[in-house]
Amino acid sequence: MTSWTAHILTIFPDMFPGPLGHSLAGRALAEKVWDLRTVDIRDFAIDKHGTVDDSPFGGGPGMVMRADVLNAALESVAAAPGPVIYLTPRGRAFDQERAAALASGPGVTLLCGRFEGIDERVIDERGFEEVSVGDFVLSGGEPAAMSVIDACVRLLPGVVGTRESLDEESFAQGLLEYPQYTRPATWRGRSAPDVLLSGHHENIRAWRLAQAERITRERRPDLWERYVARNKQVRTMS
Ligand SMILES: C[S@@+](CC[C@H](N)C(=O)[O-])C[C@H]1O[C@@H](n2cnc3c(N)ncnc32)[C@H](O)[C@@H]1O
Repeated sequence: MTSWTAHILTIFPDMFPGPLGHSLAGRALAEKVWDLRTVDIRDFAIDKHGTVDDSPFGGGPGMVMRADVLNAALESVAAAPGPVIYLTPRGRAFDQERAAALASGPGVTLLCGRFEGIDERVIDERGFEEVSVGDFVLSGGEPAAMSVIDACVRLLPGVVGTRESLDEESFAQGLLEYPQYTRPATWRGRSAPDVLLSGHHENIRAWRLAQAERITRERRPDLWERYVARNKQVRTMS
């Protein structure tokens, strides 16, 4: 069986696997649960200096990655499995739902921008998806690509030990996760909630759900609204 494959187009292929070579993702990579292939965009430069960028038409600061060079790099992975995504602060916010959809497919190709970004015409020409990892500006798409891949890889079968740990995590049920505690039961005068030490599974479940709902309501009204709407719909249908 072919493993889930991430193709990364970057001018810094040596950055990979980086953090993805450690812990859960690193073990899964070593066990060939997933595969990582980097493409050095500089290999597709059309001059002998390996130039991939040029100054922006209309002036202004910084440099822009050239459409012709990027297109040639993208052509080289035309047979790669899964969608092509350009990582950009302008893109649709990446979320757990998108991670789950990507993880259930054959893989993904991620284009990492640098400088001021990429020539718009390569986006128009190829019509690929644009994804952002948050409302902040990174120096390049590589850390964003690592986040996307990490979020997908941990959803691949067998990567995380128990299915329940995924099902109970933040966003899995449309809620942020409840607070977690471990030993010692009392630390600096702060005790872990009694209910968690009671061994009463139903009470623990109810406490955790109430906490997850409280935290989501307080911190993320956008998620809370969606959760309430979805639960109302489920109740109406049953
Ligand atoms: C310095 S940024 C360019 C920012 C661009 N001039 C703008 O204002 O939107 C260089 C590259 O980093 C990546 N990048 C930066 N922030 C990102 C984010 N929040 N999500 C995904 N990729 C990001 C993109 O690939 C981008 O082309």
